[in-house]
Amino acid sequence: MSIAELRGQFPFYATANPCHYLDNAATSQIHRQALTAMAGQESCRANVHRSPYRLAEASSHAYGEARAQVARFVNAAAADEVVFTSGATAALNLVAYSFGETLQAGDEVLISAAEHHSNFVPWLRLRQRTGIRLRVLPLLPDGRIATASLAEMVTERCRLIAVTHCSNVTGAVTDVHAVVAAARAVGAKVLLDGAQQVQHGPVDVQKLGADFYAFSSHKCFGPTGVGVLWTRGGVLERLPPFLTGGGMVGLVSLETLSFASPPARFEAGTPPVAQAVGLGAAAAWMMTLPWAEVHRVESALLARLLDGLATFPTVRLIGPADLEARLPIVSFEVRGIHPHDVCQVLGEREVALRGGNHCAQPLFAALGSAGATRASIALYNDAADVDALLDGLEHALKVLS
Ligand code: ALA
Repeated sequence: MSIAELRGQFPFYATANPCHYLDNAATSQIHRQALTAMAGQESCRANVHRSPYRLAEASSHAYGEARAQVARFVNAAAADEVVFTSGATAALNLVAYSFGETLQAGDEVLISAAEHHSNFVPWLRLRQRTGIRLRVLPLLPDGRIATASLAEMVTERCRLIAVTHCSNVTGAVTDVHAVVAAARAVGAKVLLDGAQQVQHGPVDVQKLGADFYAFSSHKCFGPTGVGVLWTRGGVLERLPPFLTGGGMVGLVSLETLSFASPPARFEAGTPPVAQAVGLGAAAAWMMTLPWAEVHRVESALLARLLDGLATFPTVRLIGPADLEARLPIVSFEVRGIHPHDVCQVLGEREVALRGGNHCAQPLFAALGSAGATRASIALYNDAADVDALLDGLEHALKVLS
């Protein structure tokens, strides 16, 4: 599949002036099939799981199909293992609240210094509420999680290891096998933040061996406003709900309160039906992709970008130089120049980048950095995008130095 063919499937590239879009770790462009599927709401717009008329049944069916598509996408053992949330952040908070409610003061949760705030702050809040002990895995100098430290940091009190599958800053991919093995040795659960990984798929939750997997639709070619928490079968049954309200209960009275079975127990209120349908369509499309070819193309662009950045003496890479240990998410410092200024100058040349601390202040503190400029490559990017960035950086260095 050529880049031109791929781009033909993304309406963004048919707009009058598509830019060199290299901010895919923040949000990817949306696939045509996702937009088409959401337009199907014209003929099946009604609330779900509430009413017996034809339109409502069509809506419930479409929502159920979306769940089944997402389950196939991550190779879940059953569709009911998929809970729709508003995004990865909500999915991670769900675990922090619902699983967190089963923890006691002194129980330990192990995270890493590489976490996005969405997998850091919920645990800080849980510590404030319950007195859990929060431990943090250190990083290697290139930003990878130091999994060798698992041996000393995973104790008998450890109840959960919650780490990113891939850093949104360094692109480093976590050694999930080591994490799962360490957790299993003490009977702890594993939560993976898959927000960055899904777009570079495929994800197989059964092979990964974790208990929870969280991700957002808008980072894998679907709409905003919907995300997923996959949970290993049997785990959610034993957890209390996070949000409460309609659709997640059994019996309700002043004296009685019982909850529906998962996934309904964790989907209070009207769910994001249209968005879930869009995500389902994006997931179905992703399952048709020739992933080995996608990885080959993305790696070639990554190598081109890393080689180009290495020619600038004042540029420092934040993340592994080893292509095998990372995804094409590339952060770098430019000595003496603020990342926002780099992004501004590059933005004027229609190169879309993100700069700052990327919602990962603990990571930057651990690596002794004040912030970075980030370029993140997706499957529709090409060499012209990377070259526009490198040319723009040369220009930025001239005007900003
Ligand atoms: N988590 C997103 C990013 O890294 C917003 O940019």
